[in-house]
Amino acid sequence: MRCLVLGGSRFVGRHIVEALLARGDQVTVFHRGQSVLPPWAGRVERRLGDRRVDLQALAHGTWDVVVDTCGYIPSEVRASARCLKGRVGHYLYISSVSAYADATQPNDETAALGQLEDEHTEVVDGRTYGPLKALCEQALLREWGPEHCTLIRPGLVVGPHDPTQRFTWWPARVSRAQPLEPIPVPGTPDDPVQFIDARDLATFAVHLMARAQAGVFNAVTPAGDITFGALLEACAEAAGVRPTWVWASPEQLAHAEVRPWVDMPVWLPPEGEYAAFMRVSGARAAAAGLRIRPMVQTVADTLAWWQGLPPDQQAFTLAGLRPEREAQLLAGLLKPTAAA
Ligand SMILES: NC(=O)c1ccc[n+]([C@@H]2O[C@H](COP(=O)([O-])OP(=O)(O)OC[C@H]3O[C@@H](n4cnc5c(N)ncnc54)[C@H](OP(=O)(O)O)[C@@H]3O)[C@@H](O)[C@H]2O)c1
Repeated sequence: MRCLVLGGSRFVGRHIVEALLARGDQVTVFHRGQSVLPPWAGRVERRLGDRRVDLQALAHGTWDVVVDTCGYIPSEVRASARCLKGRVGHYLYISSVSAYADATQPNDETAALGQLEDEHTEVVDGRTYGPLKALCEQALLREWGPEHCTLIRPGLVVGPHDPTQRFTWWPARVSRAQPLEPIPVPGTPDDPVQFIDARDLATFAVHLMARAQAGVFNAVTPAGDITFGALLEACAEAAGVRPTWVWASPEQLAHAEVRPWVDMPVWLPPEGEYAAFMRVSGARAAAAGLRIRPMVQTVADTLAWWQGLPPDQQAFTLAGLRPEREAQLLAGLLKPTAAA
């Protein structure tokens, strides 16, 4: 295949490029040049540009398929769809499960999508990100028609090169534990966790691209398969350590002003607005060929990648609890037990 990758230098797109190169496909990468290209740079054609400013760099050329990994606002997806129409056979857009309107119920691909009062906003934040992804999908479908488009809606994407630090926090934190060290952890061992290894997402995307298979697919681990307890055990196994988990209820976390998802990454309270965010149906993607690697492999590879980073890049500035806040939380959690 001759493939154009919008994005491609950082995380999801990087793994897609690697999956394409492993198959012997011809790859063109389009990005701004703010991120450094990985070691395979010499094996791809590179076009530089900011898609929000102009697409001049893409004004010539033909490809079998384009994969769009960095579309966040409808106008930029509409512009790339228009620019490439007639010169590319198929368009695969990386959307998100955040596109669904309601995360209190488990969503499949037929669920209602989020809406915005101001559809023209270009502010991408926690409130607008999901509905904007839904609007990007719709903009693309209007330009190209559903038969020429694939929409993949990944859940939390994890694994090596993840810039968000969310999932990486747990293998890294557990690997630093002393034997039997108490570590505060959120919720209960049975709370559901769902994600997608970026490499499994990439393999699935390439599988669909190679078949020009149109449709909408949630890309997630099977709903109900993974619990928070199992994730922590996988972290302990990967690091070869045996800490003591000290479970903090949603009320205890709220009392200590410890935020789900950010301070306690990957975890969301089982009640409330995001109750079923981690229980999305991945059945359609599984039937279409999505294969999920064992969780312990995802955890071990993420840990190995993080351990290989230069020390200044190992610091958790975006997710996780600073040691002093973790100690405060732990002191509060252990107090009642000690008094009992
Ligand atoms: N991370 C998750 O948990 C998650 C979950 C669900 C869905 N997703 C979706 O997955 C996709 C990929 O996420 P990611 O974190 O890998 O991507 P990302 O960091 O947002 O984008 C990275 C790539 O896009 C390029 N890029 C960014 N803005 C650009 C612009 N204006 N013009 C041209 N190139 C641009 C970057 O290179 P330069 O910086 O050099 O331009 C880089 O190659 C996104 O669409 C996201 O919505 C992510």
